[in-house]
Amino acid sequence: MICFDRDPESARLWRHFDAERSVLMLAPRRIGKTVLLNRLKGEAAKQGYNAVLLDVEGFRDERAFFRQLCAALQEELGFGQSLVSALTDRLRRTLGGTETFTDWRQILMNTEWKGFADHLMAQLEDDRSGLPWLLLVDEVPIFVGALLESSGPAAAHDFLYTLRNLRQKHPRVRWLFTGSIGLDAVARRHGLEGALADMEVFPLGPFDEATSLAFLDRLAARNRCKLEPAAARTILRRLGWYSPYYLEKLIDLACDEVGAGGSVTPASADRAAEHMLALERRAYWATWREHLDRNFPEPERSDLFTVLDAIALAPDGLRIDALLPALNHGGRVVDRSALGRLLDTLVADGYLDVATDGTTARFRMTLLRDWWRRYVAPRPEPEAQDA
Ligand SMILES: Nc1ncnc2c1ncn2[C@@H]1O[C@H](COP(=O)(O)OP(=O)(O)O)[C@@H](O)[C@H]1O
Ligand SMILES: [Mg+2]
Repeated sequence: MICFDRDPESARLWRHFDAERSVLMLAPRRIGKTVLLNRLKGEAAKQGYNAVLLDVEGFRDERAFFRQLCAALQEELGFGQSLVSALTDRLRRTLGGTETFTDWRQILMNTEWKGFADHLMAQLEDDRSGLPWLLLVDEVPIFVGALLESSGPAAAHDFLYTLRNLRQKHPRVRWLFTGSIGLDAVARRHGLEGALADMEVFPLGPFDEATSLAFLDRLAARNRCKLEPAAARTILRRLGWYSPYYLEKLIDLACDEVGAGGSVTPASADRAAEHMLALERRAYWATWREHLDRNFPEPERSDLFTVLDAIALAPDGLRIDALLPALNHGGRVVDRSALGRLLDTLVADGYLDVATDGTTARFRMTLLRDWWRRYVAPRPEPEAQDA
């Protein structure tokens, strides 16, 4: 995947790394975190870093995390190989009882992971043979979630605080953690926020309008289509918030319809938006619903759905006060400040925007609102027909 633009973001990230800062980049799914990580990896050498990229989704314990990190380092051509063999020597020398092991994997399996991690970071820090190391770790919240599930809150706490200590002890090694939001909520619930407090928070937003228009032109050309300027505007209007993923899906659908050599018109762009909402494309949207189902316990989960349903059904956003009656039923008591926390969560996770005066809320992405209205929010009973 070639990264379109993101030039200012990557320049800002390199400045953070140059200042020996580690970065936490939490942003909604499909906004382009992994694409940006790959770009950083690709330009690391030019920027004066050795970088490894590690996706920790699917790992369930600390040893798996460090095994994979070490394997990624080893795969790095040039300095990685020699670094890992120096690490192995160091571990054999310093960790009691490991002299008989020849392989770092055996040592990791047979010793405490924290000691291993400490020596690994020290080795990376001391590696004066080459450039400083940058560790790009994707899907950290999913890993922390798995750790919570398999080993409980104490293990997650221990893991995150151990990494924090390692960052402080070895500042020459820079880290970038990314993930879809959720870590905030998880961290808050389990009192883990302090473990991330040293990291520079880096929000990754959607494309701006000019970038989106240029991106659409590029994708139309890739599909051998022309894109009428008014049609590009229709796509932006239907989407309402310019996530590269949804821009790409819409323009691809519109181009499919007009065929190679054709011209995308405002009407075909509108039809593409409707096609995006078709039931068979629910996979494009399902993550939005699943995120709430997976990451929030009851009764918070139901409250979040209640808020989103009510806002989806109001055509121009909803006055926040109007949400309280919807939440307070069947004996549930939700006050204004609890509602404020629900809205904060939904804003942070990319669903909603709250007006600057704090009185109304609306869906951030218009097309998501259309989808929510169609498939998630309970539709009002049809009006009784007048005889
Ligand atoms: N900068 C970009 N340039 C081109 N395509 C992008 C860009 N960012 C995101 N995309 C598109 O959106 C999809 C999702 O991006 P991805 O990086 O996987 O999101 P995330 O990791 O945030 O969930 C990509 O597969 C790609 O099609
Ligand atoms: Mg990703």
